[in-house]
Amino acid sequence: MKVTIAEACGFCYGVRRAVDMASQAETGTKTLGPIIHNPQVVARLSAQGVAPVDSLDEVGDGETVLIRSHGVGPSVYEEASRRGIRVIDATCPHVKKAQQDAKKIVEEGKNLVIIGEKAHPEVISISQWGANRAIIIDREIEAEQIPFSESLGVVVQTTFSQEQFKRIAEILKTKTNDLDVHMTICTATQQRQNAAVELAGKVDAMIVVGGRNSANTGRLAQVCREQGCPTYHIETAAELDTAAFRGMNHIGITAGASTPDWIIQEVVDIMENLQAEGTEVMSEELLDQY
Ligand code: F3S
Repeated sequence: MKVTIAEACGFCYGVRRAVDMASQAETGTKTLGPIIHNPQVVARLSAQGVAPVDSLDEVGDGETVLIRSHGVGPSVYEEASRRGIRVIDATCPHVKKAQQDAKKIVEEGKNLVIIGEKAHPEVISISQWGANRAIIIDREIEAEQIPFSESLGVVVQTTFSQEQFKRIAEILKTKTNDLDVHMTICTATQQRQNAAVELAGKVDAMIVVGGRNSANTGRLAQVCREQGCPTYHIETAAELDTAAFRGMNHIGITAGASTPDWIIQEVVDIMENLQAEGTEVMSEELLDQY
C-alpha cells in the first residue's frame, strides 16, 4: 500500500506567519479571536500564555494584542493607539491588500461590492475599511438584485471560489458602466483544492486532516468526495481508524490551511507504521517520477 501526501496542503503563508508571530509573542499577549480555526494550536498557544479574547475590552491599557490573519477594521487600531496597547499585526498581506482596495474604492466615490461570506471575520474587516458602505454578496441572485450605478468597485474574499467569483462578476458587468474589479482571491486555497482533487483521483481513499470548524478543511473533504473517493475528515491522529483502510492499495493525505505540520506528521507516522504490513509513503513529487 502506498501513502501519498498532497503536493500543497497544510498551513498557507498567512496562517504560518500569524502562528509564528504568536509563538514568538511574549507571555500575556492576547489574540483578538482564536489565531486560527484549529483548537489544538489555540490550546498550545494558550499554554504559552498567548490566549484569545473576544474584544479589546478584555485587553488592559499598555498590554499587547495580536491581530490574526483575517484582519480587523480601522477602529481597532485607533482604540489601541488611544489606550497605549501595543499591536502585533499578523493580518495576512493578501487581506491587507483587499482592505486597502476597499478603502480606495470608497475614497474614489465608487459603490463598493464585496464578494464573500457576510459573517466571515475577514469580510467584516474589509467592509469596515470600506467605511461599512459595502454591499456584501456571495450568490448570483444577490448580484442580480444590485441596482444599476455609474461606477462599481469590487473586492473579493481571499478564500472565495474562483468559479463562483467569475459567475458573479459577469452579472455585475450589467450593473454599471464602470466596473473596477480588484481580484483579491489568494491562490493558496485553490492550490490546496486542486492538489486534493488530483490526488483523490489516484487513490483508494483520502484522509483530510483539520479542524471541524475550519471551512477550508471541510471544503477539501467535499472536493475529494465529489471525485467519488471515500474520504475521512479527522481533526487529529487519535481519530484515525486504520481498520477502515484494510485491503486498500493507495491512500492520500491532505490538510486544511489551518492544520499545523505536527498534526499532519502524526497521521503520516501512523500510516508509516502500517508499512510493516506493506505500506510505503511517497510524496507527490516522488510519485511523479514513477
Ligand atoms: Fe493569506 Fe491566502 Fe492564507 S489570504 S491567510 S495566504 S489563504
